[in-house]
Amino acid sequence: MQTLDELSDFAHQQTSDSKKNVNLPKEAFLYQRQGPWPQPSPRNPKGEAPAVLRLPRKEKEEWKKKIGRRYVKNMWTYWPKALHYAYKHKGLHKISDEDFNHYLGEGVFSKFLIKGLSDQKRAIFNDFLPVDHNEREYYIIDFSLMSFTKPFEGIYATGTIVVFEKVNNALEAKLIYVDQFEGDKKIVQPTDADLWSIAKVYAMQGAAYKLILSEHALLHFPFDCINAISKSSLPINTILLQLLLPHFEHTLVLNKVVLNSTASPVENDQKFPYSGFLGDGDGQRSLVACAYSGIEGNDSYNGYHYSKEIEKFDSPYYTFLLEYYNVIKKFVTEVVNVISDEELLIIKEWAGHINQWLPTFTSSDEILLKDNLIQEITMIIWDVSVAHSADHHSFAQVPSYLVPLRVRVNPKEVHNNEIDWENGMTIKDMFRYRMEREMFFKPTNVSTLYNTKYNFEKTNYSESTKKYLKDLNDIFIRELSEVETRLKHKNVPVFIPLKEIARSIQY
Ligand SMILES: [Fe+2]
Repeated sequence: MQTLDELSDFAHQQTSDSKKNVNLPKEAFLYQRQGPWPQPSPRNPKGEAPAVLRLPRKEKEEWKKKIGRRYVKNMWTYWPKALHYAYKHKGLHKISDEDFNHYLGEGVFSKFLIKGLSDQKRAIFNDFLPVDHNEREYYIIDFSLMSFTKPFEGIYATGTIVVFEKVNNALEAKLIYVDQFEGDKKIVQPTDADLWSIAKVYAMQGAAYKLILSEHALLHFPFDCINAISKSSLPINTILLQLLLPHFEHTLVLNKVVLNSTASPVENDQKFPYSGFLGDGDGQRSLVACAYSGIEGNDSYNGYHYSKEIEKFDSPYYTFLLEYYNVIKKFVTEVVNVISDEELLIIKEWAGHINQWLPTFTSSDEILLKDNLIQEITMIIWDVSVAHSADHHSFAQVPSYLVPLRVRVNPKEVHNNEIDWENGMTIKDMFRYRMEREMFFKPTNVSTLYNTKYNFEKTNYSESTKKYLKDLNDIFIRELSEVETRLKHKNVPVFIPLKEIARSIQY
């Protein structure tokens, strides 16, 4: 393998070749060199990922046809079902310990698990830990971000922190810290009857918001600048552009609408029947910023730094995601090995542009090491397909009445008053939630990973190389279809069936 120095020397010698890219006719590019490009987020330049606001007309029309129309159709036709569900499951529901441990410990919410008790968390829970706590295995999930929401009158939210202990290889919730519980009664345990029950409800509410508006947002938005820069800086005839394009379908328009439209669910304008969040748009947006910029003094919120490495966490959901990651990486490795030195110089410029917007993206010099390039491409494809779709699918499996968006029980009053479960969530609250779920949370595919055919015939490589790339594409699809059998052997749940994984961020 070549060293970085050798590659840099090579790159230096090839600057005349690099200029060939600059001299390419505008027709060599997807949007004739007038394609999309990132800019600082207009609403929150430091607290949100760079935004892509000027979009090609073709992409806007496609999005309207394939996704926008569905939203309108859902809005006018889904309401009887939403209403039926809201009546059937009216009120605020308790969640059993078994379901609470299951949903937070195994599926999509298990992404939030942090192993061990940090000094900061130990200081909070110290008085409630058993004497032999150093010999036990603890995990925490921190929903402190809920303190940043701005609920409408009569709706409540509070920061919570859940402590789990691993017993016989399964997680059991032992303690919950509830920020807005009164005085010295902020920490509750399973023996605390109704206080424990309502603490679990606040935690599940926190799980919904942490996922939808904080952690899941990190799968969506930082990739916009890679999407835009790839479409505008990579010539059509490069392997890299053809490898990425199917994974960038529909996303730029979707993300722009989510972040900037006044009709966006994030804005939560109550004139729309799908606006089911608990408060005004600023509160929702502050949760995006919690993930992106972190929360001062809280070691569970350290801010976001783009990384080409998959983040490890301890749950079956991670094992599931990793299995697909490995298959994608194998395919990407074989494709990258075909990329010519000439194309590598174009990729060097591409990485340089991205690196200006995502400073932790591999630099233009280091991208010449193919291992770095392989990791970056694998991360992009895996994130926008498997990781993104699995989040939506796994969340949609949790019954809505167990993971509320609105809670009408004031945490400051639960110590002295009986909890009014019946009026803890109104029919209207649940109706809005179910409308929102149908339109935006539930996966609705336009194109799938399983049906992906890369247009490698458009590249400027020899016929035999193109044939080889097509064969790699076929092998990739076959290997994807073998993952579920392997997961079954390992006793890992299928958190989303392969044929339901979208190839790009489409919802
Ligand atoms: Fe999404």
